[in-house]
Amino acid sequence: MGIGKDGALPWKLPSDLKFFKDLTMATADPSKKNAVIMGRKTWESIPTKFRPLPGRLNVILTRSDSSDYATVENVVTCGSLDSSLELLASAPYSSTIEKAFLIGGGQVLRELLNASACEAIHLTDIESTIECDTFIPPIDPLVFHPWYSSSPVVENNIRHSFATFVRVRKSAEEANDSNLSELTSNDAKKKKFEIQIFSFLPKMIFEKHDEYQYLNLVQDILRSGARKNDRTGTGTISKFGCQMRFNLRKNFPLLTTKRVFWRGVLEELLWFISGSTNAKVLQEKNIRIWDGNASREYLDRYTDMHADYTGKGFDQLADVINKIKNNPDDRRIIMSAWNPTDLKKMALPPCHMFAQFYVENGELSCQMYQRSADMGLGVPFNIASYSLLTCMIAQVCDLSPGDFVHVMGDAHVYSTHVQALEEQLQKQPKPFPILKINPLKKDIDAFVASDFKLVSYDPHQKIEMKMAV
Ligand SMILES: NC(=O)c1ccc[n+]([C@@H]2O[C@H](COP(=O)([O-])OP(=O)(O)OC[C@H]3O[C@@H](n4cnc5c(N)ncnc54)[C@H](OP(=O)(O)O)[C@@H]3O)[C@@H](O)[C@H]2O)c1
Repeated sequence: MGIGKDGALPWKLPSDLKFFKDLTMATADPSKKNAVIMGRKTWESIPTKFRPLPGRLNVILTRSDSSDYATVENVVTCGSLDSSLELLASAPYSSTIEKAFLIGGGQVLRELLNASACEAIHLTDIESTIECDTFIPPIDPLVFHPWYSSSPVVENNIRHSFATFVRVRKSAEEANDSNLSELTSNDAKKKKFEIQIFSFLPKMIFEKHDEYQYLNLVQDILRSGARKNDRTGTGTISKFGCQMRFNLRKNFPLLTTKRVFWRGVLEELLWFISGSTNAKVLQEKNIRIWDGNASREYLDRYTDMHADYTGKGFDQLADVINKIKNNPDDRRIIMSAWNPTDLKKMALPPCHMFAQFYVENGELSCQMYQRSADMGLGVPFNIASYSLLTCMIAQVCDLSPGDFVHVMGDAHVYSTHVQALEEQLQKQPKPFPILKINPLKKDIDAFVASDFKLVSYDPHQKIEMKMAV
C-alpha cells in the first residue's frame, strides 16, 4: 500500500497518469467538472508547470495559513475534509461540480480512505517491489468489494493493474459485529449488501464490470441475431463466434443480475471430476439439471453407467495438471470432449467441448470452446463452472487464478427466454462474490462441497427460464 517516496511518486507509469486523468476528468454532465481534493504536500509534489491540475477544481487541505494560494485560479483551500465537502455542496460549486476525488497523499488517505463519505476506491495495483516512504491503510474487505479489475499490463518493467472497489456496507463496525466470514445460513439475511445501487460510479468504470460482457452479448443477440431453427424445435436468435473474458484474480464471476444456482454448479463440477456417468448421484442431492437430457429415451440407449473405467481410456484432467506442474509453457495443455468416433453413441454431444490452459507469471488461465451456448440458462452456469475449475486446478498447482476466456460458436437465445432476458437486462450488476477454497486441499480428487465458500453473493432475484430439450 505504498504511494510515495521522497515527496514524489515512486514510479514512472504513463498509463497510471493517463488513467488518473481520464477518471478524474470524466463527467456525465458535460457542463460540469470534478473536484480533486489533496493534502498540501501532494499539491507541492506536483511539478509547478502541471498545477493546478487542469479541467478540475483543485482543493488543497491545509491547517496552516493558506493565503499563498488565495489568488491561484481553479484552486481553493480548506482547513478540513468536512469543510471541503461542505464547500462543494454549497453555491456556486453545488451546481458546477459533479464528483469529488480524494487523490492523496498518505496523511489524508490514512484518515479518510475507509471513512463513510468514501463511496469507491480506485486503486492501481503495482506488483513489483518498489521502495516507498508513504503508505495508506489496507482496504477493509468487509466494507469494500471489487467492482472490476483490469488485466495486468507491464510498462517500464512494472506489472500493474487498475481496480475499483465499491462500498457495500455503511460502516466497518456493523460489518465487523456480525463477523461476516463466519456466517451460518441462518444469518444469510445479514449477508446482503446495505448499499444496492452502484451507478454513482463514473460510466467508464461502471461499464467495466465483467458482467456487462454477458449482458451486452445477450442484448446484441436479441437486437441483431439471426432467427434459426434448432434441434429442440423451440426456435432461437443466434450469433456465431463470440468471446467473453472473465478476470478471476479479485472476485468470482457468478452473475448478479439474476441468482445463479451455485450449489448446482459446484456439485455438478465435483461430479464431473469424480468421473461419474450416473446422473442419479446428482438427483439424490436434489440437483436436477441433467434430468431433461438424460431421459428414459436416452438412457435406454446407454447401458454402461456401472462399468468400471479404471485403466481404460485416458485421464485428461490428471494429464492437464501434470503438464501445468511440470511443463507450464506447454502449448498442448488441453482437455477435449469431442470424440468423433463416439459422437453417435452419446445422449447429447458435449456443448463445452474443448479447454486449453495457460500459465504465465504464476497465474493459470483457461480458454474454453463451447459449440452451442444457451445464453439464458446454460451460459451463466458454464461461466461459473469453468471459472471454478480454473480456480481449483490453480490451487492444486500452487498458482493463482488468471482469466477464464469463454469462446462460443453458436451463441443463442431461445425464443422462450426472450422475455425473461429482457427483464434481466433492466437490472444493474452488483459486485461479484468472492470465492474461498480450503487451502489445505491440494489433490483435485479430494475436494468436497464444504471446501468452498462463496462470500457476499447478493444477486437480484431468480429469473425463471425453462430448459429446451
Ligand atoms: N501514488 C499516488 O497516487 C499518490 C497520490 C498523492 C500523493 N502521493 C505521494 O504522497 C506523498 C505525500 O503524502 P503525505 O502523506 O506526505 O502528505 P499529504 O497527505 O499530501 O499532505 C499532508 C498535509 O495535508 C494537510 N492535511 C492533512 N490532513 C488534513 C486534514 N484532515 N485537514 C486539513 N489539512 C490536512 C496538512 O497540511 P499543512 O501541514 O499545510 O497543515 C498536512 O501536512 C508524496 O510522496 C506524493 O507524491 C502519491
